[in-house]
Amino acid sequence: MGNLPVYRFQLTTTLCYGPDSLKALGTLDGQRVLVVTDEFMNSTPVMGRVRTELAGAAAVEVFDQVKPNPDLTAVTEGLRAFLAFGPEAIVALGGGSPIDTAKAVRKLALEMGHDLPGGLIVIPTTSGTGSEVTSFAVITDPHTHTKLPLTSVAMLPEMAILDPEAVGIAPPRLTADAGMDAVSHALEAYVAKGSNDFSDALAEKALRLADASLVRCFRDGGDSEAREHQHNAATMAGIAFQNAGLGIVHSLSHAIGGSFRVAHGRLNGILLPVVITFNAGDLGFRPHDIGAVAGRYAALAKSLGLSASTERNLVLALVGWVEKLRKELDMPATLTAGGVDRAAFAAAIPTLAATAHGDFCTSGNPVAVTEGDLATLLKRIV
Ligand SMILES: NC(=O)c1ccc[n+]([C@@H]2O[C@H](COP(=O)([O-])OP(=O)(O)OC[C@H]3O[C@@H](n4cnc5c(N)ncnc54)[C@H](O)[C@@H]3O)[C@@H](O)[C@H]2O)c1
Ligand SMILES: [Fe+2]
Repeated sequence: MGNLPVYRFQLTTTLCYGPDSLKALGTLDGQRVLVVTDEFMNSTPVMGRVRTELAGAAAVEVFDQVKPNPDLTAVTEGLRAFLAFGPEAIVALGGGSPIDTAKAVRKLALEMGHDLPGGLIVIPTTSGTGSEVTSFAVITDPHTHTKLPLTSVAMLPEMAILDPEAVGIAPPRLTADAGMDAVSHALEAYVAKGSNDFSDALAEKALRLADASLVRCFRDGGDSEAREHQHNAATMAGIAFQNAGLGIVHSLSHAIGGSFRVAHGRLNGILLPVVITFNAGDLGFRPHDIGAVAGRYAALAKSLGLSASTERNLVLALVGWVEKLRKELDMPATLTAGGVDRAAFAAAIPTLAATAHGDFCTSGNPVAVTEGDLATLLKRIV
């Protein structure tokens, strides 16, 4: 008993959610506000709405030089904008890229002794990364092209505003990629080593919401009810993985994404069925005596309303659920269908397996893996 750790479930970020929740920006009245975003989002009506809601701020400065998959240069430029303006609060508007940049800038500014009394308020415009509630920022090293996951409680936003209006203009492909990322967060968190009753509840609900809403958002971006639920689902999945961890879908996806230009969520959609099958013991278990991890997947399948005669078939039903979702979202089932050159990928497998093995998400996977296992999985997705 004496050696048991004290488990913690972290709920730092206040969530303001639902239609018109952008009004919550009024909490920054009287303060100097730096908005961190990208050039595209800065040109959209959403930014116009943000300016309107910040009308009571003492001064507003916009840094819009964030690029997708931000690197250290974007963070340095953001920090320069911070130091030149001296804000009391940061607002991040955009997908994971502006949010992660703002988180890294905030952390560096605090380390340099700058106070930020108004904190960091995040407005996600994709329903995917969960970055609005996590202490991670994924920054790319421009020399090695590898993604560096930075972790610090100093990067947890004080507030996230989940207004469906902010995501309403997202095109179908972005909706699908981000949505499959959120689905993969819930699925990985549910079986991850750190999973617990609290993260399970959020992962289950996130998947049920995505089941009901994601394809609707993909088919009709103006379906505001579906947008609202999918936006909430992505954040729930974010809280789940912030507390439970992830697994090798993410390790492999990070490694592949560093060398081949395929969207993160798209890669996860290709990897999920293969990884679920592997983690479940390659379905070599007996129908009435399945392993603990396979049992977890079967429980998740049940919570999604799937039914089957045996637990083994429930795991297969979960794999089928992912495959059906992927098809409905018009996403590829293999890397070559996703535009990756077969020969170039085959040559890269040993390096990718080694990179994925060293990724910090690997330690959260419910099943221990070797580099050889990861290479085998990579061969299955070509
Ligand atoms: N911090 C975390 O916990 C975490 C988790 C997963 C991924 N990430 C990181 O997040 C980044 C990816 O973020 P992302 O997928 O949300 O996209 P993104 O921020 O990289 O944006 C991708 C593109 O979509 C556009 N876009 C964003 N919102 C839009 C909208 N509503 N309508 C139209 N266009 C829009 C952007 O302008 C950009 O061109 C990667 O760098 C990834 O590594 C971070
Ligand atoms: Fe992800």
